[in-house]
Amino acid sequence: MKRIKAWKIVCMALIPVVLLLIGTVVFRGFSAKEEEAIKIGVVIYRGDDAFISSMAVALEKQAKLVGEEIGKKIILNLVDAKNSQGSQNAQVDTFISGKYDAICVNMVDRTVASTIIDKAKEADIPIVFFNREPVEKDLLIWEKTCYVGTDAREAGKMEGQMVVDAYQDAPEAIDKNGDGKLQYVILEGEESHQDSLIRTEYSLKTITDSGIEMQRLERGIGNWMRSPAYEQMLLWLNRYGDSIEVVLSNNDEMAMGVIEALKEKEMLEEGPLIVGIDGGKDAKEEIRQGHMQGTVVNDADGQARVIIQIACAYVQGRDPEKEVPVLKGKYAFIPHYTVTKKDLKE
Ligand code: GAL
Ligand code: CA
Repeated sequence: MKRIKAWKIVCMALIPVVLLLIGTVVFRGFSAKEEEAIKIGVVIYRGDDAFISSMAVALEKQAKLVGEEIGKKIILNLVDAKNSQGSQNAQVDTFISGKYDAICVNMVDRTVASTIIDKAKEADIPIVFFNREPVEKDLLIWEKTCYVGTDAREAGKMEGQMVVDAYQDAPEAIDKNGDGKLQYVILEGEESHQDSLIRTEYSLKTITDSGIEMQRLERGIGNWMRSPAYEQMLLWLNRYGDSIEVVLSNNDEMAMGVIEALKEKEMLEEGPLIVGIDGGKDAKEEIRQGHMQGTVVNDADGQARVIIQIACAYVQGRDPEKEVPVLKGKYAFIPHYTVTKKDLKE
């Protein structure tokens, strides 16, 4: 009886020692692993932008996948600048002082990237810009920096081509008043964004180059967002009624605003032909229901993959151009593709 008690006391006394030992081993192992991992800081321009939030999801996913492929854990820390360049600069500073291995930046104001690049260069931290393209002069400041995005000209051409195809299929269904011209309105993204102007120009040019006459009724800036587009479209519907035959939208979110306005006016079923860009989930649903003609897919996964691959190559001292064929010099442009109803049926 006495012996059992003595043993019990010894065992009890040993428990904290054992726990401490296990604790030390586990903690040491974990921190060593953290040390070994590639730490990537990501800052997005605003998290309430639908496409950018899909980029955030894609980046998390690709960090896992690319990490498995290169046999390294990748730790991704993603923060939101909430459309403030000042906050974004401070967030990058925090990544630099926190000794992150690489930083990925979705600029708030794409014209002021040099401030960030100068600091990253001084700290020898590679920096991959995405979606909002810095000016070339700035990208040339630092060898370990580049831009990943899409070719806005290509997006514009594909968007325009969807209108051309639909018109050639059934001209009378689109040119409803039969005057041989397409009366249209256009919704544009931010004025300072490289994609807005170019998408607008090329979608229109593709349609007119095919011989279709276009007549603009209105243009409006919707800043990529649903609600300003909805407000604009309500105004335009009050002004023009059903004489709007085509809606060109620089992205899908604004097209969704247009659809909401049409719904509210009970004009959606016989409504104008609508095209957008991004390939968002909601847009695909509207395409399936026949409310929208089509979208040009802005491949978030494809871009995220290349962003992570390039960042890791820089960190591990390899030449990203050799590893990522789509990267040419300072630029990697990920191809677009279109989605119309027939693509969704398959
Ligand atoms: C574009 C995208 C827009 C918006 C914008 C933000 O590529 O089509 O929906 O997200 O980027 O910079
Ligand atoms: Ca017409």
